[in-house]
Amino acid sequence: MIMDSQGLSSKKPVVITIDGPTASGKGTVAQHLADKLGFHYLDSGALYRLTALSALRAKVALDDMETIADMAKSLPCAFRQGRILLAGEDVTDSIRAEEVGNTASKIAAYQPVRDALKALQVSFRQPPGLVTDGRDMGTVIFPDADLKVFLTASVAVRAERRYKQLLEKGFPANIDTLRKDLEDRDKRDSERKSSPLRPAADAVMLDTSFLGIDESVQCILDACAEKKI
Ligand code: C5P
Repeated sequence: MIMDSQGLSSKKPVVITIDGPTASGKGTVAQHLADKLGFHYLDSGALYRLTALSALRAKVALDDMETIADMAKSLPCAFRQGRILLAGEDVTDSIRAEEVGNTASKIAAYQPVRDALKALQVSFRQPPGLVTDGRDMGTVIFPDADLKVFLTASVAVRAERRYKQLLEKGFPANIDTLRKDLEDRDKRDSERKSSPLRPAADAVMLDTSFLGIDESVQCILDACAEKKI
């Protein structure tokens, strides 16, 4: 509860967080869930990818964390009708390239970059509610979330999903390289000091290796109903 100046209580908008490893399907599931509930949706990984794309384009050294944090602080981004804009340019597809994802994972290990993106992430918590996905949404950004989900799937299933996604978007892909990249990225995301990837103590665990999108969404809707969300 938040108290206003007259001592009246007001509840913060509902937040449902969906964290999990790369290519676990959390983005698609989170988007469908937000549509079903009529909530806003935040893909927090896109913010790290936008920062990575900006740094790559500006040819900033990837260990220059202060410059990259400054870029993150004033990221000229906008989310409009499912498209992601950077300084007015539609970069929805280009931020999905593997090079951008791998760079995002490297710069996401820097605490100043994470701090720079925090306020922007928190600002997405607006009525009637927010569904957000990432790595630390339930542990760090929204520790008071109304429902926290940790979504997983086996490495083999995730590599296969990412392979299909990339081919559909017209990017070249090799399944063995992808699997290795996924494992490297999982290791980096889980072992970093700043906001490592891990389930919140109060997270609901959901393994989607053998579940379709609709079934995964339904499991989360059931968890929402149990919590009266
Ligand atoms: O989810 P996605 O693969 O788009 O995220 C790209 C990278 O951004 C991840 O590998 C991870 O290192 C980083 N990330 C993060 N915290 C988040 C979301 C993404 O560290 N909340």
